[in-house]
Amino acid sequence: MKVGIIGSGGREHALCLSLKKSKKIDKIYCFPGNAGTSFVAENIQTDLNNFEELKKIIQKLKIDIIIIGPEKPLVDGIVDFLENNQIKVFGPNKTSSQLEGSKIFTKNLCKKYDIPTANFGVFNDQEKSLLYLKECNYPIVVKADGLAAGKGVYICETIEQSTNAVKEIFNGKFGEAKEVLIEEFLKGEEMSFFIISDGETYKKFGSAQDHKRALEGDKGKNTGGMGAYSPSRLEDIKLEEKILKKIINPTLKGLKDLNTEFKGFLYAGLMIVNNEPFLIEYNVRMGDPECQTILPRLKTDFAEILSACVNKNLKSINIDWFEQKSLCIVLVSKGYPEKFQNNIEIEGLSKLKLKDNEHIFHAGTKIIDNKIYSNGGRVLNFVSKSYNLKKGRNDLIKLIDNLKWENGYFRNDIGFKIIK
Ligand code: AMP
Ligand code: GLY
Repeated sequence: MKVGIIGSGGREHALCLSLKKSKKIDKIYCFPGNAGTSFVAENIQTDLNNFEELKKIIQKLKIDIIIIGPEKPLVDGIVDFLENNQIKVFGPNKTSSQLEGSKIFTKNLCKKYDIPTANFGVFNDQEKSLLYLKECNYPIVVKADGLAAGKGVYICETIEQSTNAVKEIFNGKFGEAKEVLIEEFLKGEEMSFFIISDGETYKKFGSAQDHKRALEGDKGKNTGGMGAYSPSRLEDIKLEEKILKKIINPTLKGLKDLNTEFKGFLYAGLMIVNNEPFLIEYNVRMGDPECQTILPRLKTDFAEILSACVNKNLKSINIDWFEQKSLCIVLVSKGYPEKFQNNIEIEGLSKLKLKDNEHIFHAGTKIIDNKIYSNGGRVLNFVSKSYNLKKGRNDLIKLIDNLKWENGYFRNDIGFKIIK
């Protein structure tokens, strides 16, 4: 089987290496991939906005299944386009991708199907939103509707902050804005919860806790993710039942009522408040860096799961997991998530000695003349699978220290809520 992966992050490198383990896989292509994927797959440079060109390449190479890693092509309708051209794709269609593409779509679905979420209001007028801000209890959360690459969410402690947020959104900071979402601030602990679906059947696909803030102690600016561990320390059967019953099932029913289905990974970003799950947001893909912690724990052949999903046969598969936990530390470029420099060589990566339970997944890297250079904010993911997260984390920190990459920084405290 030939598989193509769209994307270039740590998530895509982890997908690539999971597939590589399978006997079912003959060849992997990455569009465009990174330095890491170039060692196990063929990287193909192409404009991901040009679906027509992409289709031609996929057909020419006779790729059997395409996996879509990131959200943007999904929200832009890549799955509909490729499927209309008889290409098998793992990922949700454009209608279902609104779960991530429009926060207001999701909020309205929550309202209609009684899905627990923060109380909210949608305002299509700047003046009215500013008046409403005066009546709110703080903190509150102000959100732009569409995709904003992890930005577009403002946690506001004061009316000055919320006023600024509303103005920035209506002034088009995240693209043209007709509406703004203002919601109650939920105090609890976050959890990333995943399912995988073939459109008819779904199965749980693990949980994780992501550390989104740049600095230790979960302080500083929001990032794409500085590290994660899996499973989330909150995971238990009772909570899981509630998540499925109150959040996942009614969401899938809502999509069915729209005459559509969900195929692919669905990632529920949850806030757990007193053991009750509330939906903060949906993502219609695997999380990054959550994926890098979840896939190493997967025992079942991922290629078989993938093949079952695109052939609507997921019910025939049992998904099994290793007992060990896993933890990922992301090495990022100095300055990230603000300004940072690219094209800094990363020497000595091939000399690092990894144990069997350790992986390095590349994210923002590229390879030129056999040398590896940084090519993004999040550069490398160091992952360890073990029974002892503390030891696993210490070993990863030693690895990163041995790399001595002076342009990078990372958090020493990933998993601090679970590691004493
Ligand atoms: P999002 O981009 O929707 O993932 O939001 C970014 C982060 O903002 C989330 O991971 C939460 O930490 C936080 N957040 C978003 N909405 C809320 C809310 N209603 N209450 C508390 N925190 C929130
Ligand atoms: N780790 C957060 C995300 O993938 O959106």
